[in-house]
Amino acid sequence: MKDNIQPAKGKLGILIPGLGAVATTLIAGVEAVKKGISQPIGSLTQMGHIRLGKRTENRYPKIKDFVPLADLNDIVFGGWDVYEDNVYEAAMLAKVLEPGLIAAIKPELEKIKPMKAAFDKNYAKNLVGTHVKQGTRQQLADEVMADIENFKAQNGCDRIVLVWCGSTEIYYEASEIHQSLAAFEQALANDDKFISPSMIYAYAALKLGVPFANGAPNLTVDIPALVELSKQTNTPIAGKDFKTGQTLMKTILAPGLAARSLGISGWFSTNILGNRDGLVLDDPDNFKTKEVSKLGVLEDILRPEENHELYGDIFHKIRINYYPPHGDNKESWDNIDIFGWLGYKMQIKINFLCRDSILAAPIALDLALFIDLAKRAEMSGIQEWLSFYLKSPQTLPGLRPENDIFKQLMKLQNTLRHLMGEDLITHLGLDYYQDLVEVL
Ligand SMILES: NC(=O)c1ccc[n+]([C@@H]2O[C@H](COP(=O)([O-])OP(=O)(O)OC[C@H]3O[C@@H](n4cnc5c(N)ncnc54)[C@H](O)[C@@H]3O)[C@@H](O)[C@H]2O)c1
Repeated sequence: MKDNIQPAKGKLGILIPGLGAVATTLIAGVEAVKKGISQPIGSLTQMGHIRLGKRTENRYPKIKDFVPLADLNDIVFGGWDVYEDNVYEAAMLAKVLEPGLIAAIKPELEKIKPMKAAFDKNYAKNLVGTHVKQGTRQQLADEVMADIENFKAQNGCDRIVLVWCGSTEIYYEASEIHQSLAAFEQALANDDKFISPSMIYAYAALKLGVPFANGAPNLTVDIPALVELSKQTNTPIAGKDFKTGQTLMKTILAPGLAARSLGISGWFSTNILGNRDGLVLDDPDNFKTKEVSKLGVLEDILRPEENHELYGDIFHKIRINYYPPHGDNKESWDNIDIFGWLGYKMQIKINFLCRDSILAAPIALDLALFIDLAKRAEMSGIQEWLSFYLKSPQTLPGLRPENDIFKQLMKLQNTLRHLMGEDLITHLGLDYYQDLVEVL
């Protein structure tokens, strides 16, 4: 496999629909790291190590030294938004990063100006932006394709990837027009309102063979039509919804409780946040999309249908409340009712004072770098090994997603080992103590 991976030479363009809090925190962060004034903490590709071979070999290289990823110095950013603010202005508005840090990279940020968005207000009613393209859905898709090609040429990029960081779109379920590429293309031509703006970007990218990752919980590439297109153009896709904050904690904690066969009778999660994401999620239709994405996680990890005594009666409730004074500093509370030996009850309380975009930005970076690697390694379609980063991982229809963060990490690391021709690691380790042939 290793010999088939194209090298990461030249520039990588990361194009982002939605230059809001997450995107500007990502861009500012990468520029700050490039200047040597910050560290890429939270990014597995930049900071993480991977074990290779047997433990006695002591081989633990950094992931970025093991697999051929684009160098941060070779990244160029661009994107689209329904507001005209350049990335410096948008970063100041988002108030995630300190003004002093943003000022230190002002020239780099100022020159990134959003292209006009492919937008439909019905999908995010609380937004009032006017920096939008006009035309039918087919025309918008054609324009987005032209934007991608112009950006690539103007910036001398070798490769492009798209990462959706746009607002969460309203909840909708896939219908007939999403079931095949032919039906989808017909619907595009008919300007069908059930094609969401995020699908327009995804379609345009995939048509050009440009990888697409979805950081929000809306459907987007998670429909048969776009999976079909991704296979047709040999393009990797990943989604959906960056795994940050409360869900990150859930997928860390729940596997631990389940590992010890501790029962759970209730898990109540509530959040307050005051950024623009919170404003959009204040609309019940948009919240529903997020709720569905967050709810599945516990069920997938605990498997109540097979562990009825422990998880059969679990009451799981999630609330998100828009609270402007907290801005991007989301605060979450979890009350977990658990029970142990002989059914004795206990409680766990978590109060996470998190910074949403600080957790999301390195995920967006890693997804962009890994999905570019996948393209160069000739992988196409759904990249389930990237579910480590996602709240609601896209899988083959009928295949249950893996939400346990530790299994997700193992899957990711084994995929990298496989790509590079290294032995997969099973953690068996019996051979350190006895002759394995005898054991078998
Ligand atoms: N912040 C996190 O930790 C986190 C975690 C998981 C998922 N997400 C998701 O990531 C997305 C971005 O979050 P954020 O906090 O940056 O939100 P944000 O509101 O700050 O930014 C989103 C931006 O997208 C723009 N936008 C909306 N529709 C668009 C379109 N059709 N084309 C181009 N631009 C469009 C908006 O104008 C806005 O500037 C949201 O969907 C959010 O749910 C965020």
